[in-house]
Amino acid sequence: MNNMELIRSRHSVRGFLDKPLSNDSVSALKAEIEACNKESGLHIQLITNEPEAFQAGKASYGQFKCCKNYLALVGAKGQDEKIGYYGERIVLTAQSLGINSCWVALTYKKGKTDVKLGSGEKLYMVIALGYGETQGAAHKQKNISDVSDYKDGDPDWYRNGIEAALLAPTAMNQQKFRFERNGDKVTAKAAWGFYTKTDLGIVKYHFELGANLDNSIWN
Ligand SMILES: Cc1cc2nc3c(=O)[nH]c(=O)nc-3n(C[C@H](O)[C@H](O)[C@H](O)COP(=O)(O)O)c2cc1C
Repeated sequence: MNNMELIRSRHSVRGFLDKPLSNDSVSALKAEIEACNKESGLHIQLITNEPEAFQAGKASYGQFKCCKNYLALVGAKGQDEKIGYYGERIVLTAQSLGINSCWVALTYKKGKTDVKLGSGEKLYMVIALGYGETQGAAHKQKNISDVSDYKDGDPDWYRNGIEAALLAPTAMNQQKFRFERNGDKVTAKAAWGFYTKTDLGIVKYHFELGANLDNSIWN
């Protein structure tokens, strides 16, 4: 699957099968997490077979069903955008392994998570992981013109980057971001709102994959 197919295949999934992650997938996820932590200085952790954070033993907790695996997104304060960027990199790695996911800022029991915090670190949010009962469904998307200065005749890479960003998960599907291009550089900005800085990191990662460019694209 190429990157755009991978991005198109990902949707939030909140109901999971009672099936542990395969050993090979756990190893692959851990390797990717280690690479992300090394590059970013974050302290992202994979937690498996832990039913408490999503009350997986109870009939239903929030919208989640049978979630026993998750990523704990941990880092120093003020790292919201990085949390988005690297969290989504791991989400798409999970998707490539056939593991479904959902970013979760609110609807879990923070006090019940099995997470290790170093000094000065905090738990930003978690990402539910598992084999979905379904593959989820496409979210409603804004138009390219709502989120960018794209106009006819602009380069394909710019359009592709924005299209990939519009397929990204954002909190409450708010899509409060904006791209502007100046030659071969792009500025990405978050509007005011809940978790929009984290959303910005997520959409910047999608943009890079869609445009097939690295992070030197950003102004
Ligand atoms: C930063 C962030 C926080 C989120 N928090 C929650 C949450 O607390 N509970 C939940 O059910 N979904 C949560 N979501 C999932 C969004 O609702 C979902 O990504 C959005 O509706 C788009 O749908 P999609 O992921 O299927 O494309 C969150 C997503 C992001 C990016």
